[in-house]
Amino acid sequence: MRTQVCIIGGGPSGLLLSQLLHRRGIDTVVLERKTKAYVLGRIRAGILETGMMALMREAGVSDRLDKESYVHDGTVISFEDEQFGINFKALIGKTVAVYGQTEVTRDLYEAREAMDGKIVFNVEGVQIHGADSDAPFVTYSADGTEQRIDCDFVAGCDGFHGVSRQAMPLTVRREYEKIYPFGWLGILSETPPVHEELIYASSRRGFALCSMRNENLSRYYIQCSLSESPSDWTDAAFWEELRRRIPTEAAENLITGPSIEKSIAPLRSFVTEPMRWGRLFLCGDAAHIVPPTGAKGLNTAASDIHYLYHGMVQHYLDGDSEGLDRYSEKALARVWKAERFSWWMTSLLHRFPDQSEFDLKMQRAEIDFLRSNHAAQVAMAENYVGLPY
Ligand code: APR
Ligand code: PHB
Repeated sequence: MRTQVCIIGGGPSGLLLSQLLHRRGIDTVVLERKTKAYVLGRIRAGILETGMMALMREAGVSDRLDKESYVHDGTVISFEDEQFGINFKALIGKTVAVYGQTEVTRDLYEAREAMDGKIVFNVEGVQIHGADSDAPFVTYSADGTEQRIDCDFVAGCDGFHGVSRQAMPLTVRREYEKIYPFGWLGILSETPPVHEELIYASSRRGFALCSMRNENLSRYYIQCSLSESPSDWTDAAFWEELRRRIPTEAAENLITGPSIEKSIAPLRSFVTEPMRWGRLFLCGDAAHIVPPTGAKGLNTAASDIHYLYHGMVQHYLDGDSEGLDRYSEKALARVWKAERFSWWMTSLLHRFPDQSEFDLKMQRAEIDFLRSNHAAQVAMAENYVGLPY
C-alpha cells in the first residue's frame, strides 16, 4: 500500500491531522493499535481553547461542538478559605469551551468514516523504517498478516507510550521530564455540576477540581498520593474529601451520586526535542505531556497539528518546504509555554510532601498577587484561553 502521510495513532491528534489533510486532497492512512470502542472509552479533560475550536471548524467537524459545548467566560480559584474569579472575557475578551475530549474523538471518527478515511484498527508491531531517507515506510501486522505502507512522511501521533518517539535515535533526541509526587483521583458522576464555572481549589488537605461535561454530568478530582488506588476510595469517602477541600458554599451545594468512572492519573511534565527527524514528525502526547492543571494536553496537541497541517499543505500545494522545515521549532516554542503554564498552575495549587513553611508562604503570596493584580490576571487569562498559534 502507498499513501502520502502515514499516521501512527488514532487518538485526537492523528484523527484531526488525517481529517484536515483529507479535506485538502492529501491522502493518509491511520494505524491504531486498539479498537475504536477502546479509544472512545478513555476519559480525558474537557476544556477547548479557541484555536482548537477553529481547527475543528476547519476540519468540518464542529456541528455538535457548536451546538453542545458550553462557553465559559472564566474560572474560580480557591485558596484555603478565600475565593476569587478570573474572568477571561472581561480581562481579554476571550472564552473557552467545555466539551469532552471523548466527544471530540467521536466526532472525528464519524467524520473520517463519512469520508471513507482509511483507519486500520488492532495493528500490532508497528515499525518505522527509513525516516531519515527519501523513501520511508511503515510495517505492521493486522489480522495475522504482515503489511507495508510506503509514504512521503510519517506522523507519530501515538501518544506517550507509542513507538514513534523511540524511532528517533538517542543521538538526535533529548528528553526533559519532571515527575510530581502525587496524582489526581478523578470521578465522573451523573449529577449536576456544583458551580457554573470550574473551581480550582487549593486547601490544606490538597488540591481539588470541580469540572463538568454537561448539566447532568460532573467531573471532580482530588489530589492523592501515588501509592493509592481507586479501589481504596469508596464514593462516600471521595465526596467527603472533596467537600473538605472546596469552598464552603460549594461544599454545601454539592450534589453527590454514584461514580460511573473512577481512576487515578499520575502528574508529569515531559518534552522531547526535536519534534522532527527527517520525514518523521511527532505530534501531541508522543512528544510532550503536561500535568492536567490548566487542561493543556489536548490543546497543545492541537497546536502541533495546526503547524504540521499547514506545513504539509505548503509542501504539497505550493511546493514550499518552509513550514515542514520549521515545524519542530514552531511547535516547541508553543509547547514550552504550555509546559510552563501547566507547571505553574500545578506548583501553585498543590500541596507537596516536602513543602516547607517558606514554600507555603510563597504559594500564598503568589495567590494574593494573582487575586489583586490586573496584569497577573491578564497573564493567567491569556495562557488559560490559549496563546496564539
Ligand atoms: N501503534 C499504533 N497506535 C498506537 C501505538 C502503536 N504502537 N501506540 C499507541 N497508539 C495509539 C493509542 O492506542 C492511542 O489511541 O495512539 C493513540 C494516541 O492517542 P492519545 O494518547 O490520546 O494521544 P494524542 O492523540 O496525541 O492526544 C493528545 O490526549 O491525554 C491526552 O492530554 C492529552 O488530551 C491530550 C491528547
Ligand atoms: C476535566 O474536565 O476533566 C478537566 C478540566 C480542567 C482541567 C483538567 C481536567 O484543568
